[in-house]
Amino acid sequence: MSLKAPRGTHDILPNESYQWQYLEAIFRTISGNFGYQEIRTPIFEDVQVFSRTAGETSDIVTKEMYTFEDRGERICALKPEGTAPIVRSILEHSLANSGAPLRLSYITPIFRYERPQKGRYRQAHQVGLEYINSNSPLADAEVIELTYRFYVALGLESIQVNLNSLGRETCRQQYREAVLKHYSSYLSDLEPETMARMEKNPLRLLDSKDPKAVEVRQSAPPILDFLEPDSATHFAAVQKALNEAGVPYAADPSVIRGLDYYSDTVFEISSTKLGAQSALCGGGRYDGLAKQLGGGNLPSVGVGMGIERALIVLAEEGNLPEAPVPDVFIVQLGPEVATTAALIARELRAAGKKVLIDHDQRSLKSQFRMADSSNARFAIVLGSDEISKGVVTLKDLKEGSQSEIALSQVLERI
Ligand code: HAM
Repeated sequence: MSLKAPRGTHDILPNESYQWQYLEAIFRTISGNFGYQEIRTPIFEDVQVFSRTAGETSDIVTKEMYTFEDRGERICALKPEGTAPIVRSILEHSLANSGAPLRLSYITPIFRYERPQKGRYRQAHQVGLEYINSNSPLADAEVIELTYRFYVALGLESIQVNLNSLGRETCRQQYREAVLKHYSSYLSDLEPETMARMEKNPLRLLDSKDPKAVEVRQSAPPILDFLEPDSATHFAAVQKALNEAGVPYAADPSVIRGLDYYSDTVFEISSTKLGAQSALCGGGRYDGLAKQLGGGNLPSVGVGMGIERALIVLAEEGNLPEAPVPDVFIVQLGPEVATTAALIARELRAAGKKVLIDHDQRSLKSQFRMADSSNARFAIVLGSDEISKGVVTLKDLKEGSQSEIALSQVLERI
């Protein structure tokens, strides 16, 4: 029996890993420009880090977590998301005790036992941001702007920022009742899955993809009508800051989020190129999360951005970067030139060039085949005749031209 990667997981093969490096490099640059510092937390945590925060009725907690008991009889979970572990770490290491805000970034795998489909995996990957310890609506706007700038820098075209506010618990309670009342006249038309959603969390009716629920949503009362004055002021300030930053967005009452820890601002950025799993990223404010983990008041806002989904959209838009290629392949005519060939390779690499060399004494033909398939720009051909004359043959593999040049000129010609 041949073994395969588990369902819903993927190997990131050498011919695609450069795309991940490209995305991660842009993320590091932009988040660094905004002053975010990287945090890395373990792949697994005490299950309570998630069960206490993501919401007892959320899909993540009820059916998607990869949990296991370790040999010390501790119940652990592979992280289904990155935010709760970061807050756990902040509390554990007293990182927020000075009262100053923290700007944190991360790159992490996440694990969710979901039904795999395009853009949805059991091991997926996120880049993310958490702005910890600030009440300011400008913190929300900064996270949204940074996320938007990241996608623009990446080269994504068909993106849309969708913004909503979930208010605080008291108004949400009233709103839940209003939503239940509104949908109750249509119950017999809703799919069983939608009904189950409604029982767990009525607000999830609003982001259901059940066509009938989508139709009923059009006439549902907007949550914004229920916001308490503080939340309404906060939301207006977020929008003002986004307008000033030139970040285009649309108010979207269907942005509810699948994790229960949010309050006030929530947002998603979507792409029409993604089909059913249209969210490139999702985030929002989670002022109560630290308390659920036994900490104090730690108002915070953040976002998680799916790496796979961004790469899917880049590919569909034809905007993937070109794969990096070696500068030179050194073709050796016989084992007696190996020492000189290695010397040339070392000097070129020291000067920052990407250099490939064959160590298996293959025939000239097969070395040229390797050079071609590596897409190297140049080949340096080296035999003992060349060495005694102090020259090499430099072949431009793109244009097909070749010339003999002095050994001392190799670096300047490449
Ligand atoms: P989330 O909406 O669950 O939020 O995930 C954020 C993004 O991760 C999604 O929009 C999607 O791009 C990607 N993603 C999630 N699950 C999968 C999957 N199974 N397959 C492929 N991609 C996936 C969170 O995780 C929150 N921690 C975000 C956050 C940070 N909120 C505040 N700070």
